[in-house]
Amino acid sequence: HSATKRHTPRSLAALDIPVVALTAYTTPMAKLLDPHCDLLLVGDSLGMVVYGMESTLGVTTDMMIAHGQAVVRGSQHACVAIDLPFGSYQQSPQQAFQTSAEIMARTGAGCVKLEGGVEMAETIHFLTQRGIPVIGHIGLKPQAVHTHGGFRTVGRGNEAEQIMKDAQAVADAGAFAMVIESTMEPLARAITESVPALTIGIGASPACGGQVLVGEDMLGLFSDFTPRFVKRFGNLGAEVDKAAAAYAKAVRSRAFPGPEQCVGMPKE
Ligand code: KIV
Ligand code: NA
Repeated sequence: HSATKRHTPRSLAALDIPVVALTAYTTPMAKLLDPHCDLLLVGDSLGMVVYGMESTLGVTTDMMIAHGQAVVRGSQHACVAIDLPFGSYQQSPQQAFQTSAEIMARTGAGCVKLEGGVEMAETIHFLTQRGIPVIGHIGLKPQAVHTHGGFRTVGRGNEAEQIMKDAQAVADAGAFAMVIESTMEPLARAITESVPALTIGIGASPACGGQVLVGEDMLGLFSDFTPRFVKRFGNLGAEVDKAAAAYAKAVRSRAFPGPEQCVGMPKE
């Protein structure tokens, strides 16, 4: 992959096969995931996955910048997108621009992502007109967990009509892509068929233009909260447990460190 250049919002939108996206928060994980991904998302889910918060509401712009820098350093192939955290963009288009510009300038990321539909269209337009590629995020919006009334599937009954309007508004405002989270499948399919923007599903539909999962969920490294849409493609949690147990046993029995790990220690 060393000769390929990094994906951009344009090259992602031009892919004619599904876009492969995962979240990443750290350099070592970015290095491992980057060769396989078109898009690495530094999601504000890091508040829950890395910091043990109960929601994403406590995540700050400084946290997103620090983790964004780590992921950009650890990747060379995937486009890197960084979430705008709660409270850093909802107040006004100007506030959103200032936060986005700081994040883009300090991390080198290719785009930002923000949650919202019709109510964020003006902001998305403001950003995209000023050189900031935007990924929207509709359906379940985790930063609005309290107004949703919990993490749940959305888009049943007359909720579907509003979410379709959100998708259209986000695309019309200039977002090149949008995440569709935790919706009824036919709704995500219908959105994908009716908007020009790339749709990236999580708990959405195989018809979406791409798929995203939280890296730690996909790897079986995070089990505090596992929505139905998570599929485990690995069981690293069990591997970590096994390795930590073996290490503890070796330390307690003085089998570790051995002569190979020590300097000037006689063998036998
Ligand atoms: O924060 C996050 O990880 C996300 C993805 C799940 C889309 O927004
Ligand atoms: Na997010």
